[in-house]
Amino acid sequence: MSKIILNIKNLKKNFIHQNKKVAVLKNLNFSIKKGDLIALTGPSGSGKSTLLHLIALLDKPSSGSIFFLEKNINNFSKKEINKVRKHNISIIFQNNNLISDLNVIENVMLPLLIRNENRQKCHEKSKKILSLVNLSDRWDFFPRDLSGGEQQRVAIARSLIAETDLILADEPTGNLDFKTSGEIFNYFLKLKKMKKTILFATHNRELANKADYKLSIFNGNIKRFNGKK
Ligand SMILES: Nc1ncnc2c1ncn2[C@@H]1O[C@H](COP(=O)(O)OP(=O)(O)OP(=O)(O)O)[C@@H](O)[C@H]1O
Ligand SMILES: [Mg+2]
Repeated sequence: MSKIILNIKNLKKNFIHQNKKVAVLKNLNFSIKKGDLIALTGPSGSGKSTLLHLIALLDKPSSGSIFFLEKNINNFSKKEINKVRKHNISIIFQNNNLISDLNVIENVMLPLLIRNENRQKCHEKSKKILSLVNLSDRWDFFPRDLSGGEQQRVAIARSLIAETDLILADEPTGNLDFKTSGEIFNYFLKLKKMKKTILFATHNRELANKADYKLSIFNGNIKRFNGKK
């Protein structure tokens, strides 16, 4: 029997904008199994980024709970949150959030350095992953000297290197061409083989159809649609 890695119960998220309540996520209930590769779809403004940020512990729900491996992560202390970020849940942001003072390879190495892993090994691993996203010849560039798509690929490399149990990706292939998007997706498949769980928001219908299944947000609710299975 597959293990449930993520269980979302009665999740609601409202924002207050100019004293008015904006109800984005109304009452989400779903669970995700370990090793699933899932596309998160829905129109622009439907709440995909909002949901990913809640799961990544970057924001708090208005009500409801998020269970990661049966633990309610919303009750976690700062120390526990840091631990989850280092080892369990990583996120690739919609706007890639690279550190401008670090060059490409330093940005990629960061998750491993934070875990105090051996610097030489970090370097080797980073080089491998940079070649995978076709950026070997840009390792010593700073983010400002890269194109939008290249920056996005660095952000992907940085998130993938951590090999956390759950990888959240917010339109990871948004700035990428067809071929590179396909390669990134193939890497997701490799991670799936390693029993990693991947939830990626996308507007790319073709990639969404290649996922195990789709979760689609519409009018504040979420619905599951079967993909290739
Ligand atoms: N801090 C905020 N205050 C008020 N409203 C917000 C805030 N953050 C997000 N929203 C609103 O929540 C809604 C969902 O935003 P979100 O970024 O999650 O959409 P999305 O599905 O990721 O869209 P896209 O496909 O364009 O990236 C939007 O209508 C947005 O205006
Ligand atoms: Mg978004």
